[in-house]
Amino acid sequence: MSQEKLAQIVSLCKRRGFIFGGSEIYGGLSSVWDYGPLGARLKKRIKDIWWKEYVEKRSDIVGLDSSIIMKDQVFEASGHLAGFADLLVDCPNCKKRFRVDKLEKVRGDIYRCLECKQEIDIGKNKPRKFNLMLKTNMSATEDEPNYAYLRPETAQGIFVNFTNVLNTTSKKLPLGIAQIGKAFRNEVTTGSFVFRMKEFEQMEIEYFVHPKEADKFYKYWVKDRFNFYIDKIGLRKENLKLREHTGDELAHYAKSCTDIEFNFPFGWSELEGIANRGDYDLSEHAKVSKKDLSYFDGVKGEKFIPYVIEPSAGVDRTFFACLSDAFFSEEVKGRTRNVLKLKPDLAPYSVAVFPLLKNKPEVVELAKNIFYDIKDKLPALYADTAGIGKLYRRQDEIGTPFCITVDVESLSDGKVTIRDRDSMEQERVDKTKVKEFLKQRIKFD
Ligand code: GAP
Repeated sequence: MSQEKLAQIVSLCKRRGFIFGGSEIYGGLSSVWDYGPLGARLKKRIKDIWWKEYVEKRSDIVGLDSSIIMKDQVFEASGHLAGFADLLVDCPNCKKRFRVDKLEKVRGDIYRCLECKQEIDIGKNKPRKFNLMLKTNMSATEDEPNYAYLRPETAQGIFVNFTNVLNTTSKKLPLGIAQIGKAFRNEVTTGSFVFRMKEFEQMEIEYFVHPKEADKFYKYWVKDRFNFYIDKIGLRKENLKLREHTGDELAHYAKSCTDIEFNFPFGWSELEGIANRGDYDLSEHAKVSKKDLSYFDGVKGEKFIPYVIEPSAGVDRTFFACLSDAFFSEEVKGRTRNVLKLKPDLAPYSVAVFPLLKNKPEVVELAKNIFYDIKDKLPALYADTAGIGKLYRRQDEIGTPFCITVDVESLSDGKVTIRDRDSMEQERVDKTKVKEFLKQRIKFD
């Protein structure tokens, strides 16, 4: 993988409508991105698959949709106001600002600048702590501010609602509370596309367990989440690996943490973290709020603060991983073919229907009938704005696994041509068997 591949993916995203720069007509907003029509579809598929797997299919996990804006006391208790900070240093040569932990260490206090490649002596250019929390003013008047914060992780909405969920669902431990939603961090970053954003989306589960069972469930979740990316998202196993955090890397709340890393175009980086947060969050919220956040096991007559195992995934990083994993630029008959070999049920569209001759009404009518018939069951699109070669190229590039073409012969033999995105093989299929054909090849979980 390479910077060239990253440039190809960024260009495809913009050209085809997956991702646009945030506030682009005003020159853009650093590390803020908007999802276009195709991006919104793919992103929604990722979230739907995750939600179905963990909230719909299981009885030990319930869903939540808590607010983004939260009281300052929440983050006083969680430790984010005091401890959620990056160590930043300014390069004396190019004047750009970097996270010290992202610079290449040359020796001792000497690091290499990511931009101009000159050496930075952090002994002389003292790094400063920079809190990542985004603050907002809830007051109606400027002179009497009432500050609140945009959550930096969806997790805190889960912890502050722990007893509400327990009381309203009558669930017993082990119990997971799952949430998909936006999180905000004032990240300092350059050129990492949607990998590191100031506004991003997380899919988090806080899995509450008896402290004695924490290690068992920690191992369970590491394995489960690793397999999810292969089996449900379709990432290739060779592009995924596990990496356990060393003591000095651990977040302020974590007892242990394992990252699932993906081989992004710029190298191996975190896709998801699975942490054992111990009883840190519930204990701290109990202290600051003065509310009892313990759990009572009525059968054993035991009262305790549960431990939490947290599989925390990024929607945007999963999206990016899907594109990186699926993107191929191939030579076909002397021409370059860009193709997204996405898992068929993940692709923005499962099928595209074209009339070969758009000025032949009977061909158009048959193509439209087939399209409307499929559209009820699968995400489908109809296209007739270009020649067949161009239409295929566009569908390859947006990852549509099957293209159906209706031609003059279809009117007499009742068959249509179905082209497979990956093999580019074409098959004549009876028009009455099209749905059956697609059903066998696109499996919606
Ligand atoms: N609740 C734990 C937590 O937030 P994290 O490792 O800071 O842990 C979890 O974040 C996941 O959220 C990451 O693995 C990543 O996928 C995603 N993520 C974090 N910061 C991000 C950012 N600035 N831009 C995009 N995704 C981000």
